[in-house]
Amino acid sequence: MIILKTPDEIAVMAQASRVVAETLAILQKAVRPGITTDELDRLAEEEIRSRGAKPAFKGYRSYPKTLCASVNDQVVHGIPSKRVLMEGDIIGLDLGAIVGGFYGDSAVTVTVGQTTERNARLVQVTEEAMYLGIKQAVVGHRLSDISHAVQRHAESAGYSVVTEFVGHGIGRQLHEEPQVPNYGKPGQGPRLQAGMVLAIEPMVNMGGAAVKVLEDRWTAVTVDGSLSAHFEHTIVIEPSGPPRILSQL
Ligand code: MF3
Ligand code: CO
Repeated sequence: MIILKTPDEIAVMAQASRVVAETLAILQKAVRPGITTDELDRLAEEEIRSRGAKPAFKGYRSYPKTLCASVNDQVVHGIPSKRVLMEGDIIGLDLGAIVGGFYGDSAVTVTVGQTTERNARLVQVTEEAMYLGIKQAVVGHRLSDISHAVQRHAESAGYSVVTEFVGHGIGRQLHEEPQVPNYGKPGQGPRLQAGMVLAIEPMVNMGGAAVKVLEDRWTAVTVDGSLSAHFEHTIVIEPSGPPRILSQL
């Protein structure tokens, strides 16, 4: 069942998403060669708590940290560690926060110092794919219109979309119905309605689509070792016009 949110609930979700957005902005500035992903995790937890919110991921199905920090061929759910970021790396920063019992969820991928044109293009195309998906999130469209827009953009750039992980409804739980795949034919699935809140989150690989999960039971990496990028926004479908992006400052 897809749970539609009331305006009051959306106001609280906007607060949770704002905490995530502000914290991601701070993390992006902190990313530089020489910093460890553990240091980014500590900063993330501090910033979330100082805003009166709670980290959403820590303890979620026994995930140990506040931040997911996915470097290079890591697709999602990279666990912060003593790993030191190097010039030219790309890193996905994925963060969730809880305010008043409601979740906000957002992710960005950024480059560490200077990277190659080739890597920067993957990051840019993935972000564009997310925004093209978001643009489809209007009343009267169907869910897979979002999915299709994401897939089309990523594949026309010569990349593959990850199919094992998907976007999701979000609210009093981090993951609610519906699932929001990043692939599919248009015009399928439930009709989009005002008050639906969705986390739209394309994961795009430079090489093949295949991913596997490491021994740590969390870190997803590309099977072929190619680079992967991830962006995510929490959005709400409006009675008319484009969606409101709750996790955008
Ligand atoms: N943005 C991711 C998601 O929606 C992050 C989940 S990480 C977890 O699934 F640790 F909370 F699982
Ligand atoms: Co998510």
